Amino acid sequence: MTTKLKAGNFQFVNRLTGAQIEQLWRMYQGEWWSRGRNINDVRRAVEHSDLVFAYCVAETGRLAAFTRVLTDFVYKAVLFDVIVDRPYRDLGLGRTLLEAVTSHPALLFVEHIELYCRPELIPFYEQWGFTAHLGKLCFMRRTPEPLSRSAPGTSQTQIWPSALTRSCTSDGVR
Ligand SMILES: CC(C)(COP(=O)(O)OP(=O)(O)OC[C@H]1O[C@@H](n2cnc3c(N)ncnc32)[C@H](O)[C@@H]1OP(=O)(O)O)[C@@H](O)C(=O)NCCC(=O)NCCS
Repeated sequence: MTTKLKAGNFQFVNRLTGAQIEQLWRMYQGEWWSRGRNINDVRRAVEHSDLVFAYCVAETGRLAAFTRVLTDFVYKAVLFDVIVDRPYRDLGLGRTLLEAVTSHPALLFVEHIELYCRPELIPFYEQWGFTAHLGKLCFMRRTPEPLSRSAPGTSQTQIWPSALTRSCTSDGVR
């Protein structure tokens, strides 16, 4: 599917090539929330995402916009890493990306599509029906100690066999 915007033609893709993953990694380095991500982790995160939405420059294949979704396809879908590369901002690519997500057939009947963002982006997402008014719901997060991601051998191995812990951290959970 090719989309014509003010800056030219962009092609929709739902898988990234190795070169596009590297371009995504570079895009991440420009944002406070994704700076410092490691290329191998980025590759794994993209591989293990349920849906990938991306637009690349039709002529060159260069990645221009990206987001990914984790979902059970029934109750929840969570949108992550909405990002448009700087030279392509304010051209309508962010809009095109959000329209692709909110009209995707696999997500049409999912009970909730969720995301988290800074307050200044609330008006952006409100355009597609997202609301920050969640009543008494709170966003919670647990951040494991840095060691437990790279070197299994701490508390989780008391519950999980070491072989499983090793395969989760080196190859991803399949
Ligand atoms: C936020 C972002 C994805 C928007 O992408 P974009 O391609 O520049 O946006 P578009 O050109 O498609 O804008 C679509 C509409 O949203 C509006 N909009 C864009 N950014 C906005 C913002 N920060 N707040 C409110 N509205 C915004 C535009 O004015 C436009 O409205 P219009 O169609 O009525 O003119 C992009 O600026 C970006 O990648 N930012 C850095 C990464 C980031 O912070 N991502 C969010 C993670 S939660």
